[in-house]
Amino acid sequence: MDVTFRHLTKRFPARRGSSAKEVIAVDDFDFTISDGELVGLLGPSGCGKSTALNLICGLLTPTEGEIFFGEENVTAIPVEKRGVGMVFQNYALYPHLTVYQNIIFPLQNLKGKDRLTREQMRAKAEEAARLVQIGALMDRHPSELSGGQQQRVAIARALVKLPRILLLDEPLSNLDARLRLQTREEIRRIQLETGITTIFVTHDQEEAMSISDRIVVMRDGRVQQIGAPQTIYDDPANLFVAQFLGTPPINVFHGTLQGRRLLMGGVPVLATDTDEIRQITVAIRPEGFIVDPSVPFSCSLQAVEVMGRDVSCVCTHPAMVNESGRMRAIIDAGTRPDAGVSDVHFRLKPEKVLLFDPDTGERLYAELSTLR
Ligand SMILES: Nc1ncnc2c1ncn2[C@@H]1O[C@H](COP(=O)(O)OP(=O)(O)O)[C@@H](O)[C@H]1O
Ligand SMILES: [Mg+2]
Repeated sequence: MDVTFRHLTKRFPARRGSSAKEVIAVDDFDFTISDGELVGLLGPSGCGKSTALNLICGLLTPTEGEIFFGEENVTAIPVEKRGVGMVFQNYALYPHLTVYQNIIFPLQNLKGKDRLTREQMRAKAEEAARLVQIGALMDRHPSELSGGQQQRVAIARALVKLPRILLLDEPLSNLDARLRLQTREEIRRIQLETGITTIFVTHDQEEAMSISDRIVVMRDGRVQQIGAPQTIYDDPANLFVAQFLGTPPINVFHGTLQGRRLLMGGVPVLATDTDEIRQITVAIRPEGFIVDPSVPFSCSLQAVEVMGRDVSCVCTHPAMVNESGRMRAIIDAGTRPDAGVSDVHFRLKPEKVLLFDPDTGERLYAELSTLR
């Protein structure tokens, strides 16, 4: 089932007598999620992710705009008729019911022709439990389960009615690091096995990158960019997106375009095809540096962190936009600077260097190449 948004907007009006201003939590969503796709909705806390999910499932009514499931306009259809499965961060299981009773809960109040017999419910619950691999836990209560198991039960409960769309709101946030990794792989497997169109909300860029077919990056209610994880990482539309994706984060410098060269801290680092002369924001991925004593661009080395095959050089440089900040250059362990060295010279990989407008943060495109 594909999902289409047409100018979908949700405003929360300012409260009377309060100093808080109107919030536009979802601002003009206008795109389509394809059938069977897993889309990661990614952005910082408060950017409108949960509001967007609540609009899709019908818990909230939009201020403007429409939502379609396939050809059907569902904007005015109530929650229980939309055929949406929801999973929340806090599992939200009924503590006094067993796993089995929790899973069949959504099936119990079906009316008329949709009514199910006990045997039919049992079969559906067993199928959902099999998918999330909790078949052996059916008689336990939630308090007798680990966090990861509880979240599987919540997913089984969302799947038992065979939803048209599956919505997951930060489902891994309450799990420890190892379970988070394991459960996200599980979610991907279940999603591929069922083929259900899925929207996965997270503020964790690594999580979104690892699980999604496409990512929708949001900021202050507005979509910043939509694309495959690798595309968004390699080719971000603006500085916000460039900085939001990647660990360690992208390094940001003041730079100048002049004489067909890109200068940083007054020294040339790359050649460019543009004759423009201007100030520019330069962002360099940590993997974009190569140690090369023969070039003039030099950073002050603060520490070397061992990462196994690679090492991370933690440096400072006066042209960094965040002056007190540190930059990280990830280099091959074989090229690591000797102990006691205070300055490292770096050559830059042109494809890892991105240019932005210093005022708007919008991406600027100029051909960059190694200086000869
Ligand atoms: N019921 C509400 N009334 C007023 N403001 C709200 C309400 N729900 C959310 N907001 C505001 O809308 C914005 C987006 O919130 P939310 O969708 O929860 O963000 P996220 O899930 O990305 O953290 C925030 O500024 C939040 O304070
Ligand atoms: Mg939220």
